[in-house]
Amino acid sequence: MTNHNRYAGWLSAALLSVGLMSTSVASAATGDAGKQLSEQYGIPYHAVIAHRGDSFDAPESTAPAYLLARDLGADYLELDLQRTKDGQLIAVHDDTLKRTTNIAEVFPERADDPVSTFTLAEIKQLDAGSWFNAQYPERARDSYQGLKILTLDEVRQIAEGGDNKPGLYIETKVPSQFPGIEKELKNYLKQHGWIGGEREAPKSFDPIHHVGVAFTPGRVILQTFEKESLEKLQQQMPEVPKILLLWLDDGYIASKGTAERIEGESDADFYARQQVASKEEFERWLDFAKAHGAIGTGPSAELHDHGAQSYADLAQPWMNKMTHDKGLLIHLYTVDAAEDFAKYDARGVDGFFTNHTPALLEFYHRPPAQGVDEILKKYDF
Ligand code: G3P
Ligand code: CA
Repeated sequence: MTNHNRYAGWLSAALLSVGLMSTSVASAATGDAGKQLSEQYGIPYHAVIAHRGDSFDAPESTAPAYLLARDLGADYLELDLQRTKDGQLIAVHDDTLKRTTNIAEVFPERADDPVSTFTLAEIKQLDAGSWFNAQYPERARDSYQGLKILTLDEVRQIAEGGDNKPGLYIETKVPSQFPGIEKELKNYLKQHGWIGGEREAPKSFDPIHHVGVAFTPGRVILQTFEKESLEKLQQQMPEVPKILLLWLDDGYIASKGTAERIEGESDADFYARQQVASKEEFERWLDFAKAHGAIGTGPSAELHDHGAQSYADLAQPWMNKMTHDKGLLIHLYTVDAAEDFAKYDARGVDGFFTNHTPALLEFYHRPPAQGVDEILKKYDF
C-alpha cells in the first residue's frame, strides 16, 4: 500500500532526506482545518484507527486482530487499557470478562467480577476467541479457539514487529478503577521509546510503501471518556496528543430531556433520539478538552443500520464546525460501513475508529496489498 500524503509533514521531511519530494507535494499541506491540524500534530489525515484491531475479521483485541490491522495497513492499533490485580497492563474492553471469554466455565463464581480482580496468570487461562466463532460463524476459524487476552507489551510488540509500523491509540478504560494508571502508562511508553524524544526510522524502512506512523510525532494518541483521566494524562504526558471521547449521558454531555426509554426500543434507537441539551453544553465539553490538553475529540456516531455500536450523533455539521473552529480535530467512533464512512466524511471528520480495517482502507483509496486470508495464513491462523 502507499501512504499518499497522509502525514505530510513527516513524510515530506523523509522524502526530502532522500531527494524524492517535488514542490507540488511540499505545497499540498494546505486545505481544511482538520487536515492542517492533523499535519501539525504529525497525525495521519485521514486516520485509519483499528478499533480493538481488525475486530471484524478476528476476535477483538487478540493477536490475529492486531496482526491483521498492522499488515493490512491501519495507521493505529486501538486498545482499551486496564490493569490486572498483580499490576500488569492489559488490552481488554469490557470491565468484566463475560462477553469475550469463557470465564463462566473457568471461574464460574467470579464471572461478574471486574477485570481488575484477576491476576495475569488467571486471565491468561481464558479463551478469548471461541465466543467470536459462536457469534460470527461466517468468520469463524478453528485457530481462534483458545486465543489469549494480550498485555500492552504484547500489543506493542505486534505494532513493532512487521513491515508496517503503525502507531498506538490507547484508551484509559474505567480509569477510576486504576489509580495511577496514567503514570504507569507514561513510564511504560518511555521505557520502550514511544515517548520522550524522536523515534527514528531505520535506514531500511520504506516510507512510500509502508505505514510509518510509529516514527512520527503522532505515534501515540491517548484517549479517554473521563475528564479526570484527561487531566492526569496531560499532567503525565503533556507532549503526547490526546483525544477526549464524547458521550451523551448522565455525567457526560447532557441531553435535552429525551432520556426516557420507550418500551421495546433498541439501544441504538434510544441513542438516536438523544440530542445535546444545547450548543453551549456541547461547547463546554470542547472547551474543557482544549483547556486540558486535548488536540481533538472522539464523538459517537449514529450508524445507518442502528447496529450494536450506533449511538447518539455527536458529529452533526454544526458540531464539527465548532470543533474545527476551536482548533480541535475529530476522530469518530466506531464506523464500519461505506455509507456511514461517506456520510461522516462529507461532514469533515478527520478519521475513523473502525472494526473493519479493510473497509475503511478501501474507502480512503488505500487498498491493502494483502488480503485477510493471506495475512492470517502467514501467521498460521
Ligand atoms: O475508543 C474509541 C471507542 O473505542 C470508544 O468506544 O467503548 O469501543 O471503547 P469503546
Ligand atoms: Ca476504546
